[in-house]
Amino acid sequence: MVNKELSPSMFIGVRGRGIISFGSGQPDLPPPKKVLACKAGYDDFKYGLIAGRRELRESLAQEFKKFKATKEDFIVTNGASESLDLAFRAICKPKDKILLHVPYYYSYKPLIEMNHFVPSFVKTNKGKIDIEDFEGKVHDVKAVLINSPSNPTGRLQDIKTLKIIEKVTQDLKIPLISDEVYKDLIYERENYMLSGSQVITINSFSKTFSMCGARVGYLYSKNSGIINKVIQLKTITSMNTNILAQRMAYHATKVPKSFIDSNVKIWKQRRDIIYERMLELGLDVWKPEGAFYILPKIKNPRKFVREMFKKHKVITYLGEWFGADDRVRFSYALDTKEIEEGLKRVGKYLKKN
Ligand SMILES: Cc1ncc(COP(=O)(O)O)c(C=O)c1O
Repeated sequence: MVNKELSPSMFIGVRGRGIISFGSGQPDLPPPKKVLACKAGYDDFKYGLIAGRRELRESLAQEFKKFKATKEDFIVTNGASESLDLAFRAICKPKDKILLHVPYYYSYKPLIEMNHFVPSFVKTNKGKIDIEDFEGKVHDVKAVLINSPSNPTGRLQDIKTLKIIEKVTQDLKIPLISDEVYKDLIYERENYMLSGSQVITINSFSKTFSMCGARVGYLYSKNSGIINKVIQLKTITSMNTNILAQRMAYHATKVPKSFIDSNVKIWKQRRDIIYERMLELGLDVWKPEGAFYILPKIKNPRKFVREMFKKHKVITYLGEWFGADDRVRFSYALDTKEIEEGLKRVGKYLKKN
């Protein structure tokens, strides 16, 4: 699945001892105060509804009101991760193809293969979907998966492209899974949310509200058949999502938009710094438009990732985990001083190699 010597599990959660981690996609900014103040009560220890707490789903429906959403259209899951797994399994049978764009979030491919489905890949140019390639391949697949803004590129798909994908999948009646976990972290324009009867939206509280460890995400679909199938699967797998964490998520939905806006300002400043520094280092890099990742081209990426960790105490992720063999992923979910120091170390390495 991944290079034996180097794998994401080597780095996830590794901190301290002068290490600078451009590894994990975990925001370093704190969650909202109301979320932190949530205390457990007796009811949090009882089983809950499989679909999730009513008030949380009602609040989500309110957020999606322009799509005429109701609480029945939502299922609260253990992060977006569980939503992805359940969505694939609700839609596909073994050997069915799922179309995704490369580079992709590292868990997509193994998750698809582990379930005995088959990944099919759409080409991108500087992270933007090649729509001709998409139109050539879409007829042959059971589902399409879009992730904009993308992990690992930080690139947004153009609205024109998203509208074509929406229309083609609608006309062909192919489920369109939209992983929008970075929908609130966009620097260049408003988010364009894919919508329609074929769309399954997947989202998370991990990134927008810095709640990665709470493990709350959700799946939204207007297709009651899919919702019922996902509930059936969740009933025999994880059952309800953590009740206390769902209460925290409910408080997060009530946080004023200024919380998100001020975080986005910080992410954008960091984006500008890391992008400019990488250009100064002479790296071939695409300007991130959202999320908090950047994916420079690096000569001999395995040597780079290994030596940056072993000799320079800098964690980075191999591009091959994301389907980008000649690149290395940097997450800039860390403060500007650390970004500057980390890139100084990268500069030293590049001078010698
Ligand atoms: C594109 C993408 N989808 C899904 C996830 C999983 O998120 P969660 O913490 O909600 O499971 C991540 C986490 O990094 C991600 O980057």
